[in-house]
Amino acid sequence: MRRLGGFLRGRLEFRPRPDDIYVVSYPRSGTTWMQVMLLHLVAETAPEFRHLSEASPWFERALALGSARAEDFERWPSPRVFKSHLPCGWLPRPGRHVYVWRDGTDVAVSYFHFYRSHLGFEGDFAAFFARFLTGDLQYRSWFSHVEDWMAHAGRPDTFVVRYEELKADRAAALERLAHFLGLSLSPARRDQILAATTFEAMKSHEEKFDHVSERPAERARLPSAFIRAGAVGEGQKTLTEAQKVAFEAAWQAARSRRHRLGPPLRLSAFLH
Ligand code: A3P
Repeated sequence: MRRLGGFLRGRLEFRPRPDDIYVVSYPRSGTTWMQVMLLHLVAETAPEFRHLSEASPWFERALALGSARAEDFERWPSPRVFKSHLPCGWLPRPGRHVYVWRDGTDVAVSYFHFYRSHLGFEGDFAAFFARFLTGDLQYRSWFSHVEDWMAHAGRPDTFVVRYEELKADRAAALERLAHFLGLSLSPARRDQILAATTFEAMKSHEEKFDHVSERPAERARLPSAFIRAGAVGEGQKTLTEAQKVAFEAAWQAARSRRHRLGPPLRLSAFLH
């Protein structure tokens, strides 16, 4: 309850700025990757940080856990780059929202590994996938999350990009992103950002990105699975035919907005 209170108070007291940037996604969709690209993009020189959260805090988690209060964010220079997994309507405005989404079956596989490595889940993929379908997970339903954000995709303050686009042509995605933010991007700077955000470059500094290692004392138990495979298509290889059919049915239902899948997001979701 104390954490819940921390978030609610912080959210109310938080003073948004028009040039704030929120990198938003359902977990395991490429949030961290996009955060790092954005930090590079808005900085004049390559950003230095011991841990990503020092440069780009996780909005709801920082407020909930008390690692930052609304007044602390006042001291951050503009443009502030926040990470969030919240639904569209929960985020402060004004601000600019960069929504990253990824093939849902790939998210399911990545989140399954994350649940095992970071959240103590001991079941197999079938057990996890059953929960994925019904939205019985930290941030509830992937289907509802994506559908909610897609309904706002045309807003001028919202930029939507897919993980698969980043994999296929990061340079083009960066150009688009720079345009959305009104920034110019020289070829030299672009190449620098591309080099700093390859899978290998980020994997070699994994301790800077995994939130387990946010506190130095916890680095010893770093599971080394946060930046894991970085692949496209694992979902299609992992799901059974029946699981693929169930996934499609859930996706169609969410897209046609006949009903929202799973219970609504509870604030306690991000208190873990
Ligand atoms: P996998 O588990 O499939 O490897 P998030 O930051 O939203 O939690 O997303 C994590 C996913 O993004 C993980 O997927 C991780 O490996 C992948 N990822 C992180 N950095 C990446 C990079 N530079 N290139 C490709 N994928 C990356």
